[in-house]
Amino acid sequence: QTETAAPPRPELFDFHGVSMTHHFTDNWDNVQNFQAKPDDILIATYPKAGTTWVSHMLDLLYFGKSSPKRGDSLPICERVPFLEINNPVFAPARNAKDNVVSYFHFARMSNAQPEPGDWPSFLQRFQEGKMPWGSWYDHVKGWWEKKQAYPKLLYLHYEDLAEDMDREMDRVCSFLGLCPTEEERHQVKERVQFDAMKKNSMVNYSTFSLMDFKISPFMRKGKVGDWKNHFTVYQNEQFDKEYQKKMMNTTVRFLAEI
Ligand code: A3P
Repeated sequence: QTETAAPPRPELFDFHGVSMTHHFTDNWDNVQNFQAKPDDILIATYPKAGTTWVSHMLDLLYFGKSSPKRGDSLPICERVPFLEINNPVFAPARNAKDNVVSYFHFARMSNAQPEPGDWPSFLQRFQEGKMPWGSWYDHVKGWWEKKQAYPKLLYLHYEDLAEDMDREMDRVCSFLGLCPTEEERHQVKERVQFDAMKKNSMVNYSTFSLMDFKISPFMRKGKVGDWKNHFTVYQNEQFDKEYQKKMMNTTVRFLAEI
């Protein structure tokens, strides 16, 4: 990390009906014209739902055997690039309360995010969808609906990954038609554990100058239910009420504790 002054925070603006920042829209023509090959894999997540976790796991499952050092020597953003910055589909999703807490701490430490303001105002704007990548509610509902019509889409819940990685890795492998040996499976499982990823500079974003780890680390807690340390009783009641209204027209369900 250098001691130079941090660059200014980007402004949030409306981009085709979704709140965004310019970092992820400057390259939009290329995103629009992107032609996927039949065996491309797309990971579609709302920020802070486990993007890095699932990216690292898939990369290790695919390339861990032929290049065992890859996961410790190439940054995650080179192994699994962001489509916006420079296709079965994976859709990791996380319960709204932990997701907003994680997003808040991330927005505090990342200068690529607009100013987060204080926690109550951040929580309010999250519910209004005034965040980069817009509304969490529209995101999780939209991909859930797509899944019903599009069989080549695997919807992964963060909470399921945290509860039983063996089971979820089986789902991922059978979805992709991969048959790792017991030994390979075991190795990937070890390497995608929170503590291992927190230590691995190729996935923990410690090399990114736009992030200030003194404020909060990227691999922060990796827990289900940390929202309980942030929401007041009143905020929780108000959030649940709004949540019910916004999620009435969908069957997607999330566990906020396990
Ligand atoms: P917390 O801030 O709650 O700790 P993304 O990669 O989509 O930005 O998501 C980041 C969140 O996923 C952070 O959540 C991070 O700690 C968590 N995460 C990353 N790897 C993880 C792992 N191996 N196990 C559990 N959580 C993980």
